[in-house]
Amino acid sequence: METEKIDLSNFLLKNSTSYEDPKSFVELMMGIIDASNLISTLISNGEIGGVLGNLPTTNIQGETQKKLDVLSNDIFIEALLKNNLVSCLISEENENPITNEYNPSGPYTVFFDPLDGSSNIDVNVSVGSIFSIFKYKKNSDSNDIVTLDPGREQIAAGYALYGPSTMFVLSTGKGTHGFTFNSDSKKFILTHPNITVPIETHEFSINTSNERFWNPPISRYIKECNDGEIGERDKNFNMRWTGSMVADVHRILMRGGIFMYPKDSKVPEKAGRLRLMYEANPMAFLMEQARGAASTGREKLLDIIPECFHQRISVIMGSKEEVDRVIRYYAEHDDGKDFEYKSPLFKERSLFQKSD
Ligand code: AHG
Ligand code: MN
Ligand code: MN
Repeated sequence: METEKIDLSNFLLKNSTSYEDPKSFVELMMGIIDASNLISTLISNGEIGGVLGNLPTTNIQGETQKKLDVLSNDIFIEALLKNNLVSCLISEENENPITNEYNPSGPYTVFFDPLDGSSNIDVNVSVGSIFSIFKYKKNSDSNDIVTLDPGREQIAAGYALYGPSTMFVLSTGKGTHGFTFNSDSKKFILTHPNITVPIETHEFSINTSNERFWNPPISRYIKECNDGEIGERDKNFNMRWTGSMVADVHRILMRGGIFMYPKDSKVPEKAGRLRLMYEANPMAFLMEQARGAASTGREKLLDIIPECFHQRISVIMGSKEEVDRVIRYYAEHDDGKDFEYKSPLFKERSLFQKSD
């Protein structure tokens, strides 16, 4: 790595010709990096800093807020509003968009999840912060403060991962790149340029306690993984689930696999657990830029036209071949062609198997 000691700010400046407005974009990014550094320090102090535990409040999702959810949110808001570049901020922790009264025509809209996986914070398991940046567009057709564009129009997306080491993973639409925090220089150093999701995998990531609520394509896919080398897939699989999307998606970016939080029948009125604008979209952008794939099972996540700030969505992402397989299972299910899977007698690898 000696020859590649590029830090994140240099990386941003070096690539600045590819940003529409390099000066404002680099400044905006520096705000996000500073916010991530501050949150990382708070987290690493843990119990000593008195920042663990719950608050008596709930957020817009109806979830109990952790002290660190609120602290991280405040840090992001301050860092993003201070240089008047953001017209509109949308956070998981705030029901309504936060607008910039000093510069209501700042060039950017930022969506963010200030602390992802926060239920892990009290047990010292990796958490992260996720962000998604769009060009700010006022909604001229309605009174809404901002136009919600599909994820494909993100100009940048990324996350900070507060794990054994703190990492910053970023895409500005030219590949996905990973940086590791150096505690001596206090800089993020480019350690993982041009991340590519491995194609060949044998790892899946899903909360299997929801199995009874899954739809048939997901049940089929996971059953085949669990059948291992004696089943359809001819190989054994491994399962990993941390409960922090950032940590699970990071692992998949590094060594392949599939991450799924599909819409299920657990709470039928909710279209999945994860939120489109500040969880699914940014991770889908990073995944596609790393030559992986991201889908709802029926549509590419980045093509979804958003309906509201806190919209929930079905999430299936990771190694392209695995995601494509799940998409095929959805299509076969929708066409009524997955009857073979439902009948134990006619499974491809059963008593009446077609080939070995
Ligand atoms: P958040 O902490 O921002 O609310 O996000 C938690 C999310 C995501 O990180 C994770 O994949 C998922 O919720 C975990 O859900 P389960 O509790 O159902 O495992
Ligand atoms: Mn989250
Ligand atoms: Mn969160």
